[in-house]
Amino acid sequence: MPLVPMKQILDEAVKSDYGVGAYNVNNMEQIQGIMQAAKETSSPVILQASRGALKYTSMYYIKHMVMAAVENDPDIPISLHLDHGNNLETCIQAIKLGFTSVMIDGSLKEDARTPTTFEENVEKTREVVDYAHKLGVTVEGELGTLGGIEDGVGSGIVKLTDPDEAVKFIQLTGVDTLALAIGTSHGAYKFKASPTLAMDIINAVEEKVPGIPLVMHGSSSVPAHLIEIINKYGGKLEKTMGVPMESIKEAIKRGIRKINVDTDGRLAITGAIRKYLSENLDAFDPRTYFGAAREAVYQTVKGKMVDFGTAGHAGDYKPCCLEDMKKEYQGK
Ligand code: G3H
Ligand code: 13P
Ligand code: ZN
Repeated sequence: MPLVPMKQILDEAVKSDYGVGAYNVNNMEQIQGIMQAAKETSSPVILQASRGALKYTSMYYIKHMVMAAVENDPDIPISLHLDHGNNLETCIQAIKLGFTSVMIDGSLKEDARTPTTFEENVEKTREVVDYAHKLGVTVEGELGTLGGIEDGVGSGIVKLTDPDEAVKFIQLTGVDTLALAIGTSHGAYKFKASPTLAMDIINAVEEKVPGIPLVMHGSSSVPAHLIEIINKYGGKLEKTMGVPMESIKEAIKRGIRKINVDTDGRLAITGAIRKYLSENLDAFDPRTYFGAAREAVYQTVKGKMVDFGTAGHAGDYKPCCLEDMKKEYQGK
């Protein structure tokens, strides 16, 4: 099966009411850990690469590592998505490379820090949609800004998504899916105490655009046991909290379909490598500690696939390809 357009994976999730994890990947072990979890739980999966990942891997490696997953696990629908594309050129580059989905993060200027106006965001997103849909490629937009890397040069400005603006944005741009800012942030340091997310924003958008698949960034749960492993084996991470799984489940019920996870994979990998090397002082074969890291990613992601409700859905539908999607967009 070729790579699947993300729109199909998300539309199917809407039909059967579950969430799909979009897992950030940068290397082979991450991809293999995620794919093992997808295979064992029979889950469709979104593998996503940030601009940082493209730079780290020099792009071709990401594409070919993901294509290796497609060949290795032909029964799993896999979408390859560009995470936080900052301009049309980056999106075109990813599409030419074979990505079946791109995010244009028009909520920020190209420095990925300064917030844009609504009109600037619409214009930037619209040009990506025009380019991508002609080729059958899915587009994710974003309205509002998250905390962490998106909080405006560390100024603490977090702009939650205005639901009325979101509806207008979806209509004006033609995006397939929209990332909402509901109070989450990227990275490990999200909250000091149990968070209250602005869940009503999800319902308000769904009411006016029923069935639109919505996206939640900054969805790592930052499990305490992963922080404990890192600190037990020499790390020094501060006490912190992520998005509780109960909140993610609640968000899925209300219409979130794509759940972005990067940090939890990073924590799992770091803990596993620290533990392995601390317990095996004579180790120098990278396959031993990278193998432990892969296993930790697998365990972490497997749990999410079950909790998000993705498990068991890989065989629900006949995956389509970019050509099919091209026709669907042309018919609109
Ligand atoms: O959205 C942010 C992701 O966690 C990607 O992070 O740019 O360090 O790869 P990165
Ligand atoms: P986390 O940092 O919570 O894993 O979020 C990742 C993300 O939103 C990638 O786009
Ligand atoms: Zn993000």
